[in-house]
Amino acid sequence: MSHLIAPSILTADFLNLAGEIDMINQSNADWIHLDIMDGAFVPNITFGFHIIKQIKKVAKKPLDVHLMIMDPDRYLESFHEAGADILTIHYETCNHLHRTVQTIKSLGMDAGVAINPHTPVHLLETILPDLDMVLNMTVNPGFGAQSFIESSYQKIRKLKELIRQTESTSLIQVDGGVGLQNIGKLRDAGVDVFVVGNTVFSADDPVAMIRKLKGV
Ligand code: DX5
Ligand code: ZN
Repeated sequence: MSHLIAPSILTADFLNLAGEIDMINQSNADWIHLDIMDGAFVPNITFGFHIIKQIKKVAKKPLDVHLMIMDPDRYLESFHEAGADILTIHYETCNHLHRTVQTIKSLGMDAGVAINPHTPVHLLETILPDLDMVLNMTVNPGFGAQSFIESSYQKIRKLKELIRQTESTSLIQVDGGVGLQNIGKLRDAGVDVFVVGNTVFSADDPVAMIRKLKGV
């Protein structure tokens, strides 16, 4: 499978949100990544259902929704109604992860589990066969344009091996600090889906940048 690119609109121009979504529609990006932050699990607050619903009306690509919120169980159905196609919750926020994953899938969405940089991949061993995707954070979540954490390569290789051992079909996604300088090496380590924020939205020509990231 060729790797997927999911531009994150975290640092997009929200005064021109329709134009930014249209740019992604016109590009050869695969998904649209939406970062939902609650100011409790992470030290930042972003946006909620009203904005997601509006994006859903014009998006021509699946909405990949990354929840950085405490107690995500309260909102799974609402994110489905708002238009999420892939819903990723954080391992660190779920006491009953198996139940949460099953609920996401029973609502008809693909289920992802994200892990922070300090969380070891072996904790996912028993849940991996149930997952559509693991999101390995390559920065501490909360903000765009942070530096990529170099020790991530080792985690990704371990995760890839664990997926093989558990006969899981889960994709591996990375998020944070991804650009042309590291996407090839990350792909070689086993990454399937790349979230890219700042590299796309600070580029002079975001469509051309997405094409380059896709072509690596
Ligand atoms: C970070 C978010 C990311 C962020 C990535 O907490 O989850 O999706 O937008 O941004 P860049 O690519 O700028 O590091
Ligand atoms: Zn994200």
